[in-house]
Amino acid sequence: MALLHLNKVGKSFSSGGAETVALNGIDLELEQGGFLAVVGPSGCGKSTLLQIAAGLLRADRGSVTLSGASVMSPPPHVVYVFQQYAKSLFPWRTVLANVEADVPEGQQPPVIPIKRPQ
Ligand SMILES: Nc1ncnc2c1ncn2[C@@H]1O[C@H](COP(=O)(O)OP(=O)(O)OP(=O)(O)O)[C@@H](O)[C@H]1O
Ligand SMILES: [Mg+2]
Repeated sequence: MALLHLNKVGKSFSSGGAETVALNGIDLELEQGGFLAVVGPSGCGKSTLLQIAAGLLRADRGSVTLSGASVMSPPPHVVYVFQQYAKSLFPWRTVLANVEADVPEGQQPPVIPIKRPQ
């Protein structure tokens, strides 16, 4: 069984009376230990796809499972690093250390003072 399985996933956004089909009919399987890069032009739906896989957005169509369980909200041990690097990363940490910066369930994230240049 695939670790992550997307089956015919679709997502549309409505804004100002116009509908944007961000994703349609996306099938994807990722095995345990696999590495996946999603590449495409700006606006093709990469972030939408990753946010659906991470349980941050709900697909309009299709299904998403992680280890066989439906993804309806962010699953434990799934880490999503947002695209706005300056706002979402610890700049003094490596990429790996940023991804590893998980907060245990039920605990508040630590407040880390950031010294900004004058
Ligand atoms: N919250 C939203 N409301 C309306 N439209 C949205 C929303 N989020 C994404 N879209 C639209 O859905 C499409 C896919 O957006 P998405 O951010 O997934 O693209 P992307 O591939 O990550 O682009 P980029 O490479 O610029 O980060 C775009 O047309 C975008 O304008
Ligand atoms: Mg993006």
